[in-house]
Amino acid sequence: MIRAEAHGRVNLMGEHTDYNLGLVLPTPIPQRTVVQLEPRADDTIRIRARGFGEVSYRLGAEKPAHDWSDYAKACTATLQSSGVGLRGFDAEVTSDVPVGAGVSSSAAFLVALLRAIRDAFALQFDDTTLALLAQRAEVEFVGARVGIMDQLAASRGHLGEALLIDTADLSVDRVELPLSIALVVIDSGVRHAHAGGGYNTRRAECEEAARALGLPSLRNVRDLDALERLPPLLARRVRHVVSENERVQEAAAALSGGDVGRLGQLFDASHASQRDDFDVSIPEVDALAAALRHAGALGARLTGGGFGGSVVAVAALGTEREVAKAARLAYERQSGRKASVILPPP
Ligand code: GLA
Repeated sequence: MIRAEAHGRVNLMGEHTDYNLGLVLPTPIPQRTVVQLEPRADDTIRIRARGFGEVSYRLGAEKPAHDWSDYAKACTATLQSSGVGLRGFDAEVTSDVPVGAGVSSSAAFLVALLRAIRDAFALQFDDTTLALLAQRAEVEFVGARVGIMDQLAASRGHLGEALLIDTADLSVDRVELPLSIALVVIDSGVRHAHAGGGYNTRRAECEEAARALGLPSLRNVRDLDALERLPPLLARRVRHVVSENERVQEAAAALSGGDVGRLGQLFDASHASQRDDFDVSIPEVDALAAALRHAGALGARLTGGGFGGSVVAVAALGTEREVAKAARLAYERQSGRKASVILPPP
């Protein structure tokens, strides 16, 4: 029996920058997906995911069902289309990574399953290649045009450190989280769905802006005056991406230098940029970020793909439980929605 696992992640800075070849700063969360796998002699695949159901299919006959099982089929279809020889297997999946909360339950699932398959069939690829396979699986089979952040975070991250990833060359620098801070992550209870329109629309807008500026990607924007030539909506999209890349570098420096006050300011600035320039926030998420600040967090920002999902906040160590509780109660009173605290873990 093979056992493999992968953690969910929270992104600390750099939202919607990965598919623009920019910088991101995710860190794993303790919640994880565990896969137990037993190879079979034939080409049948049977997967039971606790809380989701069971699926069974033949290798090479992967058909989307538009549910959780697509992520499993995406793995086997992608491995086979990259020329990897596989056989069937039975697998059991358990996970405590919240789904639809913006903490990468899908990447945790894909990476854990790919790791288990890699071990079971002695496949020879490294963790970065594994992340790229997971991304291809999600883009080509599931149909969400996601960037590489989540898969790299799940594949290469360690608890207690953030990964400063340059998505232009996939280089990873490890940044230790200072001991003086604690992260608070609260799910707004409003669901996002990547395969749905918003995310892919933002991505298309960024590509259109890069084309209009005559650049290969928004990573190459140097001259902010050129934005005046763009329609106002595209100019706002570019302004978010450029300023967010700068904030990633500053946030990594603030983490290494233990400058928690600066980190909090950067969180707030990132939230404003996502809300005002990139239009990926929603009123509930704005209210949750405000509730976290009011409860004593040093800064709070929308994290993940947006259009709902979670807010991450930075708090002084020792205050995190009180901050999380007060913010959750205030938000629930105000919005009438049920929120869940993801960090600190229950
Ligand atoms: C989702 C995607 C990532 C990234 C974020 C936004 O989590 O999977 O690739 O684009 O949204 O920063």
